[in-house]
Amino acid sequence: MKNFLGNLLIVLSILVTLGILGFEFMQFTNSFSASSLQQTAGLPNPPDPNEKLALIDRGRIVFQQSGCQACHIAKLTKDSPEAGGPIGPSFSNVGVRRKDTDWLTKQIMAPQTVAPGTKMPSFAYLSNEQIKTLIAYVGTMDQNYYPVTEPNLQIPKDANKNPRYTQEMIDKGMNLFNSNGCIGCHMIGKQGAPLGPNLTHEALRGRSDEWQLNHLKDPLSVYVLGPTDGIQWIMPKFGQLSEEDLKALVAYLQSLH
Ligand code: HEC
Ligand code: HEC
Repeated sequence: MKNFLGNLLIVLSILVTLGILGFEFMQFTNSFSASSLQQTAGLPNPPDPNEKLALIDRGRIVFQQSGCQACHIAKLTKDSPEAGGPIGPSFSNVGVRRKDTDWLTKQIMAPQTVAPGTKMPSFAYLSNEQIKTLIAYVGTMDQNYYPVTEPNLQIPKDANKNPRYTQEMIDKGMNLFNSNGCIGCHMIGKQGAPLGPNLTHEALRGRSDEWQLNHLKDPLSVYVLGPTDGIQWIMPKFGQLSEEDLKALVAYLQSLH
């Protein structure tokens, strides 16, 4: 009897193990089945005109559901207003500066591997398919998605909506902006390049003066807590400028309505 029970237990545990293995195997093969079906059928894949759009639309839903806007100021569609929290970089033109799919996958699934100490949580619970749609969607956020809305660089003299700053300071900031190469990465009006966020309406993003000052001195100080080995940050540090110049730059940025 004892022997019989023992054997029964062994048989049962073998069956359970086989069941688990079978399930895992099914999941494993499922993730390949779509592509292998296409391969074995040997038929040319007719291009689906809606495939790209559908991918991006699905990405928008994942983006919304994952709460990316809690930390990233972004527009949900080309025509919607910018909204979001200030903890991570603005997504304006993010599709121009972040094209490396591998890097993006790491930044989303394992942010600590590219930015140790980052406040960005891991989204590793998303499926590979969802990550793919998310990257496609974020990739559409280029200079067409964030179009230039102002005709030129000149700020009208009455644009100073911030009584903390004199027009003199704002003008000084504008000159520093042009002479320090900011315009090489940022669009203001129709001038500049779209590597960084479009700053035409920077004041409307609601960044505080303190945030602007710290971001200019060391951009990563406002985003990451720890060391930044391995992360390719694009916005340079401007901590070498005098405090007075930095404040003039902030005055200029806060005048961009
Ligand atoms: C809790 C805040 C938080 C959330 C939520 C968050 N991020 Fe981030 N993200 C950050 C921070 C902070 C950075 C800046 C770099 C760093 O610290 O890793 C960043 C950087 C990025 C970058 C690089 C931006 C650039 O300008 O180069 C991308 C892309 C990105 N996040 C994508 C996403 C996506 C997609 C989601 C939603 C699935 C998301 N993030 C959700 C905080 C967040
Ligand atoms: C080599 C390209 C490059 C240069 C030069 C550059 N930036 Fe940036 N800038 C970026 C990128 C990329 C970001 C997005 C990541 C971040 O916020 O740090 C950014 C972000 C910003 C933001 C944050 C916008 C927001 O509210 O999210 C401001 C403001 C800004 N830059 C101002 C400046 C000023 C002022 C200068 C010149 C003193 C300058 N930048 C020079 C690339 C650049």
